[in-house]
Amino acid sequence: MDRLKGKVALISGGARGQGAAEARLFTDEGARVVIGDIRDDLTRQTAEEINRRHPNAARAIHLDVTRAADWRAAVDSCVKEFGGLDILVNNAGIANMKGLEQTSEEEWDAVVNVNQKGVWLGMKAAVPAMRNRGGGSIINISSVFGIIGSTGSTAYHGTKGAVRLLTKAAAVQYGPDKIRVNSIHPGVILTPMVSEAITSQEQLDALLKMTPLGRGAQPEEVAWCAVFLASDEASFVTGSELVVDGGWTAQ
Ligand SMILES: NC(=O)c1ccc[n+]([C@@H]2O[C@H](COP(=O)([O-])OP(=O)(O)OC[C@H]3O[C@@H](n4cnc5c(N)ncnc54)[C@H](O)[C@@H]3O)[C@@H](O)[C@H]2O)c1
Repeated sequence: MDRLKGKVALISGGARGQGAAEARLFTDEGARVVIGDIRDDLTRQTAEEINRRHPNAARAIHLDVTRAADWRAAVDSCVKEFGGLDILVNNAGIANMKGLEQTSEEEWDAVVNVNQKGVWLGMKAAVPAMRNRGGGSIINISSVFGIIGSTGSTAYHGTKGAVRLLTKAAAVQYGPDKIRVNSIHPGVILTPMVSEAITSQEQLDALLKMTPLGRGAQPEEVAWCAVFLASDEASFVTGSELVVDGGWTAQ
């Protein structure tokens, strides 16, 4: 119940999917959360739903992760509304399944801006506030596609691989500040991202065939791992990559 009691979290891309599941579980565990996303109505709805269960535990903010000014405002909101920042979940991401030659320069830049630059900007904005608190936990959401290749999704692979190493570089750099930095690598998680990108049952079945557990996961199954990494239970865990893929990359 109280695994995150007294902590303040900022979650990017928290309007729906895994980010919303993290916001719900974090507040169930006693944290207060600022949810940032570009889907303003849905962000507000998610925060309102949480506040009905845990009064005043959630705030919604417009956050485009590609914009440094939005990140500064989001971190300021954590400090002004809740007194500081302890946890950052760099969760916002966009999919692109195109292969190397099929990807346009505009598509490449869009995926890199959100999935890679957004993670860097988020850490850059959060670190000073965490330092003021005497430490913190940053959780960067990568993917199994940040560990292994596939026949498409070239830009996505590139960015998620970058997030894996950005995480380790930040873990080394900010260890002395007691800021832990870890990555999570989800496999097939049944969120709107998957239902929008995977349009046929055959496509989904092909992905699930690669998963030894034989199913896709609910977003909460990733969010519980984020709760662990955010909590003091993970006090000696930094620079690590937590694979949450039903066994996909074990084979
Ligand atoms: N679903 C999966 O199978 C899967 C697998 C591996 C990794 N991931 C990663 O998990 C994370 C969460 O994905 P999800 O499955 O919940 O997807 P989702 O599409 O349901 O949620 C992603 C959220 O990010 C937000 N977002 C997009 N661009 C943004 C921007 N510029 N600024 C702020 N917010 C923005 C969207 O509005 C959305 O609310 C992503 O980083 C994704 O790449 C997902």
